[in-house]
Amino acid sequence: MEQLKTYLDSNKERQLEELLELLRIPSVSADPAYKEDVRKTAEWVKHSLEQAGAENIEICETAGHPIVYADKLIDDNLPTVLVYGHYDVQPPDPVELWDSPPFEPVIKKTRLHPDGAIFARGACDDKGQMFMHIKAFEAMLAHDALPCNVKFMIEGEEEIGSENLGTFCRANKEKLDCDVVLIADTSVIANDQPSITVGLRGLSYLEVEVTGPNRDLHSGVYGGAVANPINILSQMIASLQDENNAITIPGFYDDVEVITEAERAEMNKAPFSLDAYKKELKIDDVHGEKGYTTLERTSIRPTLDVNGIWGGYIGEGAKTVLPSKAFAKISMRLVPNQDPDTITELFTKHFESLAPDSVKVKVTPHHGGEPAVTPTDTPEYQAAHLAMKSTYGKDPIPQRGGGSIPIVALFEKVLGVKTVLMGFGLDTDDIHSPNEHYGLFNFYKGIETIPYYFHHYAELKK
Ligand code: BES
Ligand code: MN
Ligand code: MN
Repeated sequence: MEQLKTYLDSNKERQLEELLELLRIPSVSADPAYKEDVRKTAEWVKHSLEQAGAENIEICETAGHPIVYADKLIDDNLPTVLVYGHYDVQPPDPVELWDSPPFEPVIKKTRLHPDGAIFARGACDDKGQMFMHIKAFEAMLAHDALPCNVKFMIEGEEEIGSENLGTFCRANKEKLDCDVVLIADTSVIANDQPSITVGLRGLSYLEVEVTGPNRDLHSGVYGGAVANPINILSQMIASLQDENNAITIPGFYDDVEVITEAERAEMNKAPFSLDAYKKELKIDDVHGEKGYTTLERTSIRPTLDVNGIWGGYIGEGAKTVLPSKAFAKISMRLVPNQDPDTITELFTKHFESLAPDSVKVKVTPHHGGEPAVTPTDTPEYQAAHLAMKSTYGKDPIPQRGGGSIPIVALFEKVLGVKTVLMGFGLDTDDIHSPNEHYGLFNFYKGIETIPYYFHHYAELKK
């Protein structure tokens, strides 16, 4: 480990340069205009794995964007770690809100990142975090210190729901056979307080369309007598939450796992300052389901949010119009044991029933994903605990996360293995937002910690 540290320290600049190169390729999976850049990124990742010393490297075609597979199998008797990550990124929009172009990474200091942070789309989610695994692997190989077999599966469709990864996993069960899936795509509580994510929320994402009259109308000639689909849609959306901010869809909470008071008390012991939270977001108050703390609202409780809403005239100045159509994109974060298909169905039925006869509604489901919880009483989790303890000098706290990585539930179902979510970002790193960034401290800490994971895991499995 000493030698490894010396190697890592003397390669910091190169590691960073390489990451900046990766960040310059705009691998936006959602937008077909970037299709070739997404492929270029897969090629880049392949090349990087090659240079690090991986074998059996393949670009695996799917019905969508390709998956990069590679491995280094050293001994049948050693445990096998499957590293999963994604090289695709969210669209950078709204681009005008970035302080520097999203695909031209720059390093700047911030209050939470006094050593500097890399500003670019994908810096934290997930190029920066995925790349830590490649660099940690390179270092272990260079020092003959790889104590486990490793497989890499780096995909290009995580940000659009990993729709083709399930098929790939089912078709390649043997190739992906492993003892644990290790992922760096989540966050820690703070740079001086490590944590390990032990739960992810599921997701049901839909689009709704409300149609009034067959064409846009003069809002004076017809206004007051014909339903305005934007007014109606607003009312329908508003009614989805009651005065306690609980979701009103009948049956929505039926399958929600009940967490005991003792577990909730334990959860709320995690370091968290509501004041700092509000200050950081420049809000005077938080908003959420009555009876739950902010930590609970973002982990063990389901949510419903409008992600986008549009229709009518949104150009310069004023235009008097009664629009024909209104649209919204709505997502629900789910918790154990809610099933995304069931929730999608409940939403659809309820939403259709809300519509008055003066409009028509159409609900179109997008992607979904199941929630996941990971156990802490396993050697897989313990290895992560020991690894973070070694490099942060502090016990990491297990904490459920609010985000989703839909494929995690599938790993358990299809491959029969548990996942360990050892991520290194901060919740304030603005993933999916303008000015996404990733701390240099976090990047290097991740590269340093990952070899400890392999070391401790191999020891625990002896
Ligand atoms: N890395 C995130 C998920 C995440 C972030 C989990 C922070 C926990 C803490 C992932 O890339 C992501 O954004 N997932 C999407 C899933 C969706 C597109 C199916 C999400 O959560 O919105
Ligand atoms: Mn991610
Ligand atoms: Mn993401």
